[in-house]
Amino acid sequence: MEQQYVEALLGQDEALERIERSLVEAGMPSISVHPMVGRLLTMLVQMSGARRVLEIGALGGYSAICLARGGADVRITSLELKPEFAAVAAANIDREGAGDQVEHIIGDARESLKQLTGPYDLVFLDADKEGYPHYLDEAMRLGRAGTIIVGDNTLLRGRTLDRGKNGPAVLAMREFNRRMVQDDQLRGVMLPGFDGLAIAIYAPRVRSTAIAPR
Ligand code: SAH
Ligand code: DHB
Ligand code: MG
Repeated sequence: MEQQYVEALLGQDEALERIERSLVEAGMPSISVHPMVGRLLTMLVQMSGARRVLEIGALGGYSAICLARGGADVRITSLELKPEFAAVAAANIDREGAGDQVEHIIGDARESLKQLTGPYDLVFLDADKEGYPHYLDEAMRLGRAGTIIVGDNTLLRGRTLDRGKNGPAVLAMREFNRRMVQDDQLRGVMLPGFDGLAIAIYAPRVRSTAIAPR
């Protein structure tokens, strides 16, 4: 009900529809961000003036297009495990005219992240859910004061709050959500809409370097 209302309100999104069709044609899962989450990604980039964006989990490039819509000078590094998915994403992004804004790095994000130095202004987590706590560590390492960190699917279709579910993705997501809201170096919110979206701003603890220890 609510979902349908929200989708109707947003109306047609030609880019999403083209991408959804390409996902079906390529036999890929239809698990792009919800269009209203996509709208929020665009707004977050635009509101924060983010230029260097890191995305973990590309699929068919829909969320990357939403991030790219936040500004013509936005540059996105998008990490994707599967080369065939990255190829579909790149083709979709080219077709939408954002080819010069997005660079894909293929392989397990855990490995790809090691070669990145940042700093990134906004980091969007949307790959394997067991990896979220590690990706959050990496987002903080690659961030700076004010970096925005966003995580999709924080409710895992209700499994996150089901006490009977305690698999690795669920345990990882509970830890991720707790840290996004409670970590004293993050100021975050957990929004229970869609499949759950967490948004935090990174406020690194300032380490005192003024007085050298004796
Ligand atoms: N952000 C996309 C949806 C991502 S779906 C959008 O909204 O348009 C999750 C993606 O993460 C899939 O494409 C999957 O192949 C990728 N993925 C899964 N595990 C990964 C890993 N370890 N490293 C990088 N990508 C991974
Ligand atoms: C699912 C949805 C997602 O947005 C995602 O990133 C991964 C999985 C899902 O509904 O299964
Ligand atoms: Mg997702």
